[in-house]
Amino acid sequence: MIHYKSNTGGSEVVDFETAILDGFAKDGGLYVPTQLPTISSEQLSSWSSLNYVDLAFEILSLFIDRSVMSESELKHLLQNAYLTFEKEEIIPIYKMKSRSETYVLELFHGPTLSFKDIGLAFLVNLVNFFLERKNEKLSIIVATTGDTGPAAAFYAVNKTALNAWILYPKDRITKEQERQITTIDALNVHPVAVANCPDGGDDLDLVITKLFANKSFKEKMKLSSVNSINWGRIMMQTVHYFYAYFKIADSVGEKINFSVPSGAFGNLCAGALAREMGLPVETFVCANNENACLHRIFDQGLFLKKEIQETPSSAIDILIPYNFWRFLYFTTGRDQDKIKAWMQDFKDNGALQFDPITRQEISMGIISESISDQLTLETIKRVFEEENYLLDPHGAVAVAASTKLESKLNKNKLVCLATAHPSKFSNVILKALQPLDELPKKAIHPSIEIAKRRCEKLRICEYIHLEEAIKYAMLSQMEKSDSKY
Ligand SMILES: Cc1ncc(COP(=O)(O)O)c(C=O)c1O
Repeated sequence: MIHYKSNTGGSEVVDFETAILDGFAKDGGLYVPTQLPTISSEQLSSWSSLNYVDLAFEILSLFIDRSVMSESELKHLLQNAYLTFEKEEIIPIYKMKSRSETYVLELFHGPTLSFKDIGLAFLVNLVNFFLERKNEKLSIIVATTGDTGPAAAFYAVNKTALNAWILYPKDRITKEQERQITTIDALNVHPVAVANCPDGGDDLDLVITKLFANKSFKEKMKLSSVNSINWGRIMMQTVHYFYAYFKIADSVGEKINFSVPSGAFGNLCAGALAREMGLPVETFVCANNENACLHRIFDQGLFLKKEIQETPSSAIDILIPYNFWRFLYFTTGRDQDKIKAWMQDFKDNGALQFDPITRQEISMGIISESISDQLTLETIKRVFEEENYLLDPHGAVAVAASTKLESKLNKNKLVCLATAHPSKFSNVILKALQPLDELPKKAIHPSIEIAKRRCEKLRICEYIHLEEAIKYAMLSQMEKSDSKY
C-alpha cells in the first residue's frame, strides 16, 4: 500500500486521494510518499517504447493504490487529459544543430503554452474526479508567477465541483500571461491581480500559507491548492524525465544529463526523484536567473532570502523555492524533525547555512549556475541566428547554464527543458532580437492572438490587504453561489 505523510512531522499517514485533495499536509508540511518506488532496469527496458500517456500510466500506477483508483479510471483520466495538446506526441524533442548531442524538450505544447499544462491537465481533472465521486466541492487557490495561473484557469473551466482563485503579482507577469488568465470566461474562475507585492510571487505564497493555517477558514471554504506544493504535480512531472530519457538514450543504462530552469524547484525535485527511482541520470543542471536562490544553496550551501529582481525569465523570479524542502527530505535521510527545524530556522532568520555533510548530500549529481539577464537575451539571439530556433527566456536560461557548465558535464547527451512558448514573452523576444523590430512568426501563437481580442475579467487588490480582501471575496462568492460547500 502506498501512503503519504508530511515531510515535517508526525506519523499520521493518509491515502493518495486525501494527499491530493488536501494540498498541504495537515501540519503545514508537504506530502511525500512513505516509500519511493524503485524501478529495475528490466522494467525500464519494457517501458522504453511506450507513448507518453501509456508511460504516465505505468509510472503513476506506482504511486496510486488500486483501492483509491481503478486501472480503467486512471487510464481514462490520462487519455482525456492530453487531448487538448497541439502535438500528437505531446512533448516533442528538438535536436540542436549548433551544439553536439544537445536536445530541447518542448514542454510547452499544451493549451496555455507552458510545462504547467503537463501537470495540471491531469491534476485538475483528478481533483474533479475525486470531488464528483464524493459529491463535494472545493476552492483551489493558486499563486502564479505567470504560468500556473493560466493552466489552472483553463482546466477549471466546466468543472462544477471547483472554484479556482488565481492570484498573480500585478505588473510582474507578462501581458500575454495576464490575458490568458483574465480572458477565461467562466463563473468558477476568479483572477486576482495583487498590486505592490514587494517580493513578487513569494509574497503570494506567504499569504496562501496563512490562509491554509487558518483552520476554520480552510474548513469552511474547503481550501486546496494545485501549486507544486501538491504532490500530484511532482508525481506527474517525473514522467517527462522518463519520457525524454527513452527518446534520447541509445539503450537503457546510458547516463544522460538534464538542464532545468528552476524557480520553486518542483520540476527539478521531480527529476531528482525520477533518478532516485532508477532513471539513469548523471547530472542535473539547476539553472537560475539573477535571483540565484537555488544557485546559492548548491554553490555555497546558503538558503537566503534577498530582494527580488525582475528578470526576462520572470516565471522563475522566486526567492523561496518551497519544493526544496521536499527535495531535502529525500536527500538528507528522510528525517522529518530535521526538515522542520531547518524550516523554522529559515523562518526566524531569513537565512540558513547548511553544514558540510548536508551540502554534500544535496549536491550529489546536481550542479548549478545563475544566468544574467544579458546572457539570457544573448542566448535567445544566438540560437535564433545560428539555427533559426526560438527559445523562450526560461529555455534560454537552461541552455545558457549548461553551456557555462559544459566542462563539468562529461560527454553525456544533454536535455535542456524548454518550459514555455516564446509567444508568452513578446517584449523579451523583441529586446533579444534587436535590431529586428518585428516579432518573428515563431514568437506568435494563435491562442495568444485570440486572447488579445477578448474582454478581461479580474479583481485587483493591494498586497497589504490581500489576506483580508481574498477572504472577503471568497466568502461573499460562496454566499452568492447556490452551490453547497
Ligand atoms: C516557464 C517556467 N519555467 C520554469 C519554471 C520553474 O519551475 P519550478 O517552479 O518547478 O522550478 C516555471 C514555474 O514557475 C515556469 O513557469
